[in-house]
Amino acid sequence: MNETATLTLDNKAFPLNVIVGTEGEKAVDIRNLRSDSGYVTYDEGFGNTGSCQSAVTFIDGEAGILRYRGYPIEQLAEYSSFIETAFLIINGELPLPAQRKRFSQLLTENAPIHSGMEHLFEGFPAEAHPMAILSAMLNTLGSYYPRLATNDHQRDLEKYEDASAIIISKVRTLAAYSYRASRGLPYIHPRRDLPYCENFLHMMFSTPYEPYIALPEVAQALNLFLLLHADHEQNCSTSTVRMVASSGANLFASAAAGVCALWGPLHGGANTAVIEMLESIHAEGDDGTKFIEQAKLGKADKRLMGFGHRVYKHYDPRAKIIKESFYSALASLGIKNDPLLDIAMRLEAAALKDEYFLARKLYPNVDFYSGLIMRAIGIPVNMFTVMFAIGRMPGWIANWKEVAANRKGRIYRPRQIYVGANLRDYVPPHQRK
Ligand code: ACO
Repeated sequence: MNETATLTLDNKAFPLNVIVGTEGEKAVDIRNLRSDSGYVTYDEGFGNTGSCQSAVTFIDGEAGILRYRGYPIEQLAEYSSFIETAFLIINGELPLPAQRKRFSQLLTENAPIHSGMEHLFEGFPAEAHPMAILSAMLNTLGSYYPRLATNDHQRDLEKYEDASAIIISKVRTLAAYSYRASRGLPYIHPRRDLPYCENFLHMMFSTPYEPYIALPEVAQALNLFLLLHADHEQNCSTSTVRMVASSGANLFASAAAGVCALWGPLHGGANTAVIEMLESIHAEGDDGTKFIEQAKLGKADKRLMGFGHRVYKHYDPRAKIIKESFYSALASLGIKNDPLLDIAMRLEAAALKDEYFLARKLYPNVDFYSGLIMRAIGIPVNMFTVMFAIGRMPGWIANWKEVAANRKGRIYRPRQIYVGANLRDYVPPHQRK
């Protein structure tokens, strides 16, 4: 028998169905609440709101569990690669050998960008942030593929395989070009013979005279970074992608919106904010002790960046994996003495035994380490969030598909509680005080 909740409003009982997810999560279904009762719910920040039913990623924040399509993140990190995991997230199943081969072929064929797009980079000012460029370029990319970006979901879904491969492949080219444009460096074209991560590093760091050959440990660290960021349920950027998709928008436009949402320091910008925080602690001659005390005052501008998470009230499982691989990457890169790393480790050790952080269940999130990894492999700080966007693309694509394929889906349109002025009459300019 279905479970039912009962809500009493104005002495009237409203029975509400309970929906149970495949992992036993329960939700009160309020879809008819306003039409039945006239009431809406209030949940600023959506911390208690299930905005959709999704089959992509499962998180149990209390237990520190993360699974893509049912597979534990620990197993994928150990046995899979970013590209195989991207296929899994985008299509729902691990690829058969022939599917994997076709996906690789599509990625290789689609790595170059149209020369018309190359010229567009010149229009951005030198100080343009690579996230602004990436978002603009992803949206522009859709206009180079009008048949894949029709804003008719049924037609766009017919081309989903091509569109998703184009985005996964070209996002790394666009990202590398945005970096090179910002430095006034010539573009380095992708190579057919290089795997995904090596190809990206080649486009970032090769010169016309000297190819950049990535150390296997560096490519592996990047691979792991991207895999660990590949999806994360209904976070700010993924919800944004779904929100935009719900209006009927195509995959390219929806992904571009995801990039904008990811940019902020409370979300994808946190990995940049961690390094900036460590640099400023170092510049002030602090070993982290003073900063920790300030972070406990609860001021928004002095938060311990890379700590805390809306969903994880436990160690972020991705942070655990990335931390372990971090030390082996550092060893292969020959990095021994890094003052920022020392500060980071001291901050972590202090916070993990401090009552302020323990009581609020503030543990390191993936960004606490990911910025340090990016820095160690030579990615410039203003590209960190772009790296996150490359990694998150499979999740955005899969979530776009769920919205696009839901024929009964409605446009996302939350309600509000209006708290502004009551009705008043227009005042002509000369009578205003
Ligand atoms: N440092 C110090 N105090 C913190 C921190 C922090 N990093 N994070 C939360 N708190 C405190 C708040 O001041 C608040 O204290 P109070 O109860 O005394 O008022 C309490 O912990 C709860 O904080 P909220 O802001 O309500 O938590 P919320 O779930 O809304 O925010 C967030 C989560 C945004 C991640 C927050 O912890 C934060 O700002 N962390 C730093 C930024 C960061 O690392 N973001 C990356 C997120 S992961 C990702 O996007 C991959």
